[in-house]
Amino acid sequence: MGDLDRILIRNKLWAEKLKEINPNYFENLSRLQAPEYLWIGCADSRVPANQIIDLPPGEVFVHRNIANVVVPSDLNCLSVLQYAVEVLKVKHIIVCGHYGCGGVKTAMSDDDHGLIDNWLNHIRTVRRLHADRFSKDMPEDEALDLLCELNIIEQVKNVCTTTIVRDAWLRGAVLSVHGLVYNLKDGILQELCMHTATDA
Ligand code: CO
Repeated sequence: MGDLDRILIRNKLWAEKLKEINPNYFENLSRLQAPEYLWIGCADSRVPANQIIDLPPGEVFVHRNIANVVVPSDLNCLSVLQYAVEVLKVKHIIVCGHYGCGGVKTAMSDDDHGLIDNWLNHIRTVRRLHADRFSKDMPEDEALDLLCELNIIEQVKNVCTTTIVRDAWLRGAVLSVHGLVYNLKDGILQELCMHTATDA
């Protein structure tokens, strides 16, 4: 038995279960994807996009990275964004972060973490932008939760200022951008902010 047997067996059972309900399930899905949502989330294994919003394959276009960061130098993220907006014509872009985010927590320390510090610097910038919100006597977990929220709000702004979203709004596309925070402790999502073309 290879190490991957566990997941290959689970995959087969999962596909069989879906085909029992609808024998044409995969055939239909393979013809087309028309998701209404683009999800930009944290890569954390505890925050799987489709599962926490209980949507099946075909309903969400997904991009995930450490601490759900959106920066104009990231061709990967921007290409996902362009494809989702211009080809799939999604109606909602969701930036979803979560409390207790390891990436955000690491960004709060000034220790040396090697290469990843280049990525986490984007979150350090968020903290600098909102330095007045952080008091010295603030408990560490409270500061972490606050930075998780501020990071989501800033990344939503970064999505809204891309040429991709600005051009879509100029074209009159129905498109809104949402910032959501996920609570690992109770599995609940909360909306922090929302932008539409009228905010452009
Ligand atoms: Co995270």
